Amino acid sequence: MIFGRVKPLEAILATAEKKSLHRTLGWFQLTLFGIGCVIGTGIFVLTAAGAQKAGPGLMLAFAIAGAICIVAALCYAEIAAMIPVAGSAYTYTYSTMGELLAWTVGWALILEYAVAASAVAVGWSGYFSGTILNQFLGIHLPTWLSAAPLALGGAPGGLVNLPAVVIALLITWLLMIGTTESARVNAVLVAIKVTALTAFIVLTLPSDQFDAARFNPFLPAGVFGGFGSGVGAVGAAATIFFAYVGFDAVSTAAEETKNPQRNVPIGLIGSLLFCTVFYILVAAGAIGTIGGQPIMGPNGIPFPAGSEELARQCALPAYRDALVCSNEALAHVLRAIGWSKVGNMLGIAAFLALPSVILILMFGQTRIFFVMSRDGLLPERLSTVHPKWKTPHIVTAVTGVGVAFAAAFLPVGQLADIANAGTLYAFMMVAVAVMILRRTAPHHPRNFRTPALFLVGPATILGCVFLFFNLPTAAMLVLPVWGAIGMVIYFGYSRSHSHVGRGIIEVVDDPSMTPGTH
Ligand code: ALA
Repeated sequence: MIFGRVKPLEAILATAEKKSLHRTLGWFQLTLFGIGCVIGTGIFVLTAAGAQKAGPGLMLAFAIAGAICIVAALCYAEIAAMIPVAGSAYTYTYSTMGELLAWTVGWALILEYAVAASAVAVGWSGYFSGTILNQFLGIHLPTWLSAAPLALGGAPGGLVNLPAVVIALLITWLLMIGTTESARVNAVLVAIKVTALTAFIVLTLPSDQFDAARFNPFLPAGVFGGFGSGVGAVGAAATIFFAYVGFDAVSTAAEETKNPQRNVPIGLIGSLLFCTVFYILVAAGAIGTIGGQPIMGPNGIPFPAGSEELARQCALPAYRDALVCSNEALAHVLRAIGWSKVGNMLGIAAFLALPSVILILMFGQTRIFFVMSRDGLLPERLSTVHPKWKTPHIVTAVTGVGVAFAAAFLPVGQLADIANAGTLYAFMMVAVAVMILRRTAPHHPRNFRTPALFLVGPATILGCVFLFFNLPTAAMLVLPVWGAIGMVIYFGYSRSHSHVGRGIIEVVDDPSMTPGTH
């Protein structure tokens, strides 16, 4: 029963063919699209949480997470070029491992896309409150309106993160009326982000205040802090993995790519390599100039990032300027070393560019819901397309309210960890699906073949499992709890409404899946 109800590959491919989008994208546009999806809250904000977990070992954490994403990207590249349809990991699983597991992947992708969108909204809120309101307008938003409650890992006095709610709802509205990002806007925003990070690197690494002694001890919490502890270099890698989430969006553009055999892998791997190098340099600049040692608890283990204890420590004058306590880590570093104006400009760059990451993630979420509801696994009413806006407006509104709700009450670190849990599961299933298809459809044309799949596939699976078990226990537990809720819905509703289960195999029009590539 677990592997029953496989959706025939032919039907999926016929859907893709019906779409017949023009192949216009080259490797450069794809790489730009990838960078546009990837650079966001991870580097601009979570650098602080990463340093609290690993100290200078954060640089190693970026390398570990980047390496796991690169092997996962090699798997994505094969299946994306072979089955270029909406729903990515969910659809791939449907055609290889059947409906039940596809459902679990689709359900986990809600964590990847919707919860990640909430995390980016909260990250944006830090820069909006710190740079725009505080530095430019002199307005100090009270903590109760700008942070999650302390009991949930927010700040003392926090209640609701209002700016995060507003940006999430604003973007929902834009998506409902049919806004997608044009390639030109994406290119401008990528240029803004890359310029901001380049300025950061150029001002920090050669700075007089850069002192190699700050990297000592390099691994204050060790490499491996223990499963579930969420500390050490691999604990930080599990969190900072978030900084790479979103690269799979490149795979959704496979069907619009010229010579996908060459260009899709270049786009996926090029954007990841580019980001990995940038992230490591940014981490080095931040730690070398103002230091990034964690605040240790009485037992010599760093206080958990996002914990009540850490929030209390950060309120003490001794730690007010610590990297690990900042909500706008990179702008804070530049201000602390005397580049206040550039720090503020970096804050503006984050303010301008992060909303496009929210838009891409929420767009991805609505399309996954759309495909699941079209398959009958979610109520079909959800996939109603608005007559005027031509968007799946109901599913978009539902997504937006969920994203805003999570952003209101949870801090960025927790949201990112939860998103990572779902993403790691989906990436693992993609690697399994690629390996299965090599056996079940060996002669099917592949525009790209993952090199050395016998190594890359298992490396992806093991890497994802390993990072998953290095997340903090609470984030790890979210996946089975979320999965159990999903099972109740599947057996209570989806199984009996499924089109495949009822013998309906349709070839339908796909909604466009690729914002920002046109
Ligand atoms: N990778 C994206 C970010 O860091 C989701 O914001």
